[in-house]
This record gives sequence, structure tokens and C-alpha cells, in this order.
Amino acid sequence: MGKLRGRSAIVTGGASGIGRACAIRLAREGGSITVGDVRDEGAVETVELIRSAGGEAIAVHCDIGNEDHVADMTAKAVDTYGRLDVLVANAGISTRAPLHELELADWERVLRVNLTGTFLCARAALRRMLVQGQGGSIITIGSVQSLVISGSGAASYKASKGGILMLTRSIAAEYADDGIRANCVLPGWIDTEIQAHMEEESSTWVSQASYQARTYPVEAPIRRPADPMEVANVVAFLASDEASFMTGAAVPVDGGYLAI
Ligand SMILES: NC(=O)c1ccc[n+]([C@@H]2O[C@H](COP(=O)([O-])OP(=O)(O)OC[C@H]3O[C@@H](n4cnc5c(N)ncnc54)[C@H](O)[C@@H]3O)[C@@H](O)[C@H]2O)c1
Repeated sequence: MGKLRGRSAIVTGGASGIGRACAIRLAREGGSITVGDVRDEGAVETVELIRSAGGEAIAVHCDIGNEDHVADMTAKAVDTYGRLDVLVANAGISTRAPLHELELADWERVLRVNLTGTFLCARAALRRMLVQGQGGSIITIGSVQSLVISGSGAASYKASKGGILMLTRSIAAEYADDGIRANCVLPGWIDTEIQAHMEEESSTWVSQASYQARTYPVEAPIRRPADPMEVANVVAFLASDEASFMTGAAVPVDGGYLAI
């Protein structure tokens, strides 16, 4: 029996990387998954992977920074599966320019997607969970950078990830009496497209060698990038009743980076 049988879950940013792994992992636990992403092709691919393994999933076009898109994604999940029990607010973007060179538009773009987008998705999920009256689990994806600054640049990303942790703790404090839990997963170095993108951008303003020396991956006790599924395993646990006494937690999945 899957841990999420009969439950409906939204996963944002499910077209690739950690989000895709979470969607597949939650579906394996019996959850019915709504994959929301701006990249339709990738989202549909994720849905096909889930369905070909016998799971239930739909893809919805959603820019999480757009209030109407988020309302539509949430409504589609509820119309299709009759309820909403889990939100994995995973979608995120980054830019790595040094702060004094960062354009206001780039600052706002990152904050709009990462922080405002997480707020919009959490608010929509909370509204539905409160109507259902059967609790729920909200999992946000922060970063080790929600707690510490590693490497230079990407100030907008780090500010947004710090904000996501505090937003998550606010939800935990405000909705525990309604049976709604909220936890923030802090990934370290995960082998996905966002990493490749950040490395590419950084190499335009510092040498790749100094970037490597200043960033956290090589400093973690487990000296390798994680497979996205290693994050998804933790997310599936937090989504389930097995994590019934966990809320407001910052949960590192970082190969021990924050421990040393
Ligand atoms: N990869 C890492 O090392 C790492 C480390 C710490 C935290 N994270 C976080 O994990 C999350 C997932 O990142 P990933 O590594 O899988 O990267 P990824 O680039 O593979 O996936 C991000 C997904 O989010 C989607 N997305 C981007 N903007 C969106 C928007 N406005 N609305 C909806 N979807 C949008 C993208 O299309 C993509 O499918 C992000 O929040 C990221 O900050 C990643």
C-alpha cells in the first residue's frame, strides 16, 4: 500500500529535475499528481512517465508568479481528483550576477517566481485544505542557502530562499490547529539543469576554477552531487502521515554540507 493512496498532490516545476523526481516518487506512493510548470513539453513528459508506470497524473501550464495561473492549477487538481492534500512548491529560478551588477528587473524576476510564487501556491492550497477540513502537507523547496551563504553572487536567489524558509515556518505556526503541516526541504548540490545554468552564468564573471573553490559542493562530506530522487524520497516522507509530528522543520538534504 502506498503512503499517499487516495491523496491528491500538486508539484510545481515538475517538468524537470527535483520536481519531476518528486512527481514520480509521490505517484509511486499512490498519489494523484498535478504537474504545474511553464515548460509544457517537460510537464507532459513527466505525466507520461508516471502513467506508463501505472500512476495518475495531469499536466497544467502554470507560471507560479501569476495569481490566475495558480488559481487555475489548483482548480484543475481539485476538479480532476476531487481534493487536494499535498503541495510541493518546488519551482524556482536563479541568477548569479554580483549584487552591484544586478538589474532591478532580474532581482524582481527571481523574487516573483521563488518567493511570491511559493506564497501564491501555498495560499491557494491552504484555502482548499481549509475547506476540506482534513489537514494537509505543504512542502517548500528552499536550499542550504536558506541558512548559509556559500559562494558569492546570486543574492536574489539566496534572499528568496531565506524568505521561503520563514514563509514555511509562518504557515506551520498559523495552521497547525487545522492539521496542516509545512516543512522546508533544503537541498545541497543536486544534479539538475539549474546547477548547470548557475555554473554557466558564473563562468562569465569569475573563472570556473575560482567558482569551484568558492562554492559548497566540494566541501560537503559526501563529495558528489545528489540524484534528484534522493531529495524526492525525503519529500515523499514529509508528504505522508509518517511525518505527522513534523512541521516548521528545515530539512537539509545536502550530503552533510550544513553539518560541518
Ligand atoms: N539543483 C540544486 O542543486 C538545487 C539546490 C538547492 C535548491 N534547489 C531548488 O530546487 C528547486 C528545483 O530546481 P531544480 O534543481 O530541479 O532545477 P530545474 O531547473 O531542473 O527545475 C526547475 C523547474 O521549475 C520550472 N519553473 C521555472 N520557473 C517557473 C515558473 N515561473 N512557474 C512554474 N515553473 C517554473 C522550470 O521550468 C523547471 O522545470 C528550485 O527551487 C531550486 O532552487 C536546487
